[in-house]
Amino acid sequence: MLKQLTLAMLLSSLPLYTFATPNKTLANTPPMGWSSWNHFGLGIDDATVRAQADAMVTSGMRDAGYVYINIDDGWEGERDANGILRPNNKFPDMKALANYVHSKGLKLGIYSSPGPKTCGGYEGSYQHEEQDAQTFAAWGIDYLKYDLCSFFNIILEEENEQRARQLLRNAYIKMHQALQKTGRPIVFSLCEYGIDDVWQWGATVGGNLWRTTGDIEDNYKSMARIGFGQAGLSSYAGPGHWNDPDMLEVGNGGMTTDEYQTHISLWALLAAPLFAGNDLTHMTAETIALLTNAEVLAIDQDLAGKQGEQVYANDDIEIWARTLADGSQAVGLFNRSQSPQDIQLSFKDIGFNHPVKVRDIWLHKDLGVLEKQYQTMVTAHGVVLLKITS
Ligand code: GLA
Repeated sequence: MLKQLTLAMLLSSLPLYTFATPNKTLANTPPMGWSSWNHFGLGIDDATVRAQADAMVTSGMRDAGYVYINIDDGWEGERDANGILRPNNKFPDMKALANYVHSKGLKLGIYSSPGPKTCGGYEGSYQHEEQDAQTFAAWGIDYLKYDLCSFFNIILEEENEQRARQLLRNAYIKMHQALQKTGRPIVFSLCEYGIDDVWQWGATVGGNLWRTTGDIEDNYKSMARIGFGQAGLSSYAGPGHWNDPDMLEVGNGGMTTDEYQTHISLWALLAAPLFAGNDLTHMTAETIALLTNAEVLAIDQDLAGKQGEQVYANDDIEIWARTLADGSQAVGLFNRSQSPQDIQLSFKDIGFNHPVKVRDIWLHKDLGVLEKQYQTMVTAHGVVLLKITS
């Protein structure tokens, strides 16, 4: 009796997160899909989501590997008398929408917050976590982005730092456990902007991915600050649990083609989740080519799941490398300056002490077997993405 009591007391005094683990069968590679936020903001509705699902298929993006159609903030309505959350009148039948998305061979994602209100001021899941998880599962939801928003105010009220940190973790554990209880595999996406170094504990609260930064904007400065700012985080990512530097802006119009090429190349080297954030129903051939380059996507989705790292950086130039499952290296030569730069890569700096085969991925061109180094001109804000094989 005494023994049992002691054990029970010990267990109850341990932080909850000791017992939460991410669903390992989910997000074995970084999730890919589309999300409504970057282009549509709160102006999202059923017809738009269906049109994006249609375009995902007709553009070839589904066949390239994009799976999730994610509704971000702005779908939520009121709770009914029993506390069950209803969509607003822009989403007449969420289950029917999920069926439609599923019928296209795609999956449906949704958005909520651990706080009473979402960032857009809509109803959050605070104190309704289990109920909402059940609702999402009943609709056929496959992915949940759980955005801190107004829960941050609740944390700020807690003056004790240790308890505040535990509140933050517990908010995510609570929803993770509620999702698990539904029995439906639902990818769990943490969004708390990197607060309290979430990469160090995101997997322990059940996250399959966690945002590492604030919101991306459709300009080079924002994209580069976020993307190149991921240096040092590679050890925290792996199959089932990924660093998330936010959704893509490719195709939204605020960057040049070279800059968007930098964006998607860097995200691929980072093993980042790839969520297109543009309007898939209005894409130029160039945008489709950027989003569906099979060799770039293969780097992102490489089964070893090893996030790339910064190998070299000065004010103008960055070199990033990622080890792939077949022992080759994907390497990005990035020019952050506003004029063309010659960049030289010494193969010994990425672990090769013998001649290597070099392929330029965006040019779709084998450059042959090279001895010690490769030097090339890289356009302003551009990238040369290489695959290097011994
Ligand atoms: C936060 C998130 C964004 C988006 C909005 C929605 O800003 O970081 O990605 O989900 O909320 O309101």
